[in-house]
Amino acid sequence: MRDLLFTPLQAGALSLPNRVVMAPMTRSRALDDGTVPSMTADYYAQRASAGLILTEGLFPEAMGKGYVRTPGLANDEQAASWARVTRAVHAAGGRIAAQLMHVGRISDPLFLPHGSTPVAPSAVRPHGSSYTDVGPRPHITPRALERAEIKRIVNAFAAATERALEAGFDAVELHAGSGYLPMQFLSSRTNHRLDEYGGDALARSRFLLEVLDAMVAIADAGRVGLKLTPELPFNDIADDTPEHTYTTLMREVAKRDIAFVEVVSTGPVDWHSLLRPLFKGAYFLGGGQTGDSALEHVQAGRADAAVFGQAFIANPDLPLRLLAGAPLASADRDTFYSPGPQGYVDYPVWANADALALA
Ligand SMILES: Cc1cc2nc3c(=O)[nH]c(=O)nc-3n(C[C@H](O)[C@H](O)[C@H](O)COP(=O)(O)O)c2cc1C
Repeated sequence: MRDLLFTPLQAGALSLPNRVVMAPMTRSRALDDGTVPSMTADYYAQRASAGLILTEGLFPEAMGKGYVRTPGLANDEQAASWARVTRAVHAAGGRIAAQLMHVGRISDPLFLPHGSTPVAPSAVRPHGSSYTDVGPRPHITPRALERAEIKRIVNAFAAATERALEAGFDAVELHAGSGYLPMQFLSSRTNHRLDEYGGDALARSRFLLEVLDAMVAIADAGRVGLKLTPELPFNDIADDTPEHTYTTLMREVAKRDIAFVEVVSTGPVDWHSLLRPLFKGAYFLGGGQTGDSALEHVQAGRADAAVFGQAFIANPDLPLRLLAGAPLASADRDTFYSPGPQGYVDYPVWANADALALA
């Protein structure tokens, strides 16, 4: 029965051997310069049996950083540190896509060059705090971006895509969820702009689509993906007409023929039923999945692949365990974002894996 999750899937130019995708997850193990240490290569290589690995969010420019010890693709040194990771994943037989994540207003001057004020489509202050090295600090009112600056950020995404390919990534994914910059443009409560980047749903989609187009121009559509989290209230984001906004956006995304979309559905709306029919590329469904629910979704044609987050942290060999119906270990939340190898590279593979291989 579970075999259906282990049939191959073509997503654009990507050939996935199975439909168990590793979710993008920030783990805060990077160094101060935004490069990743060698243990990051071990962490991802341990999870190379995923149909596709989506990395933690990487900032495409320094102004896109919003958390402690997060890595970037904003310069060649950062890219070089990721080349070690992609080599290790490929050597272990895996495929890996870089997630590009610009947090916009969800930052703090302590994370930004010269203590800069975070940027956003409009000067709307988010509720909540940043967790900095000196403790939690309430978010401040961001600075509204000038039009010329928006073009510069789009170019930064293009340059980061170029670095991703040079670093050996198989694809790039734009993070347009979780209340970060593209979602800040998309959502009516955080975008009060009067220029061509604000207004109706299509205008609010413009920034996201320009970034997507810039990534496609570098990587080709077959190596570009998009993450959406409609109605996820995380980071104090909200839209007044989410169904209209996301169907409008998805129709535009579909024209780009990108490899995949990753959708985490929240709220009363059944987003998968609404959005999947609008997109003909591979549809990845995430959020709270189990082996059974993943199978059900793929079987019912509601998704082409399932995305697993926390389960992949604690079960580096998750696909094998799902296939075998083996018990899953649970992840230790205390080490999600802690520095060092603990809770990162020390989760063991399933004890009976050898026995299964011999049987
Ligand atoms: C520790 C942790 C870090 C995360 N960081 C990111 C991130 O950098 N980018 C992103 O798109 N989602 C991030 N997420 C969300 C996951 O990609 C995923 O959508 C979410 O965990 C739901 O899937 P799950 O229930 O299988 O864990 C993170 C989740 C966790 C648990």
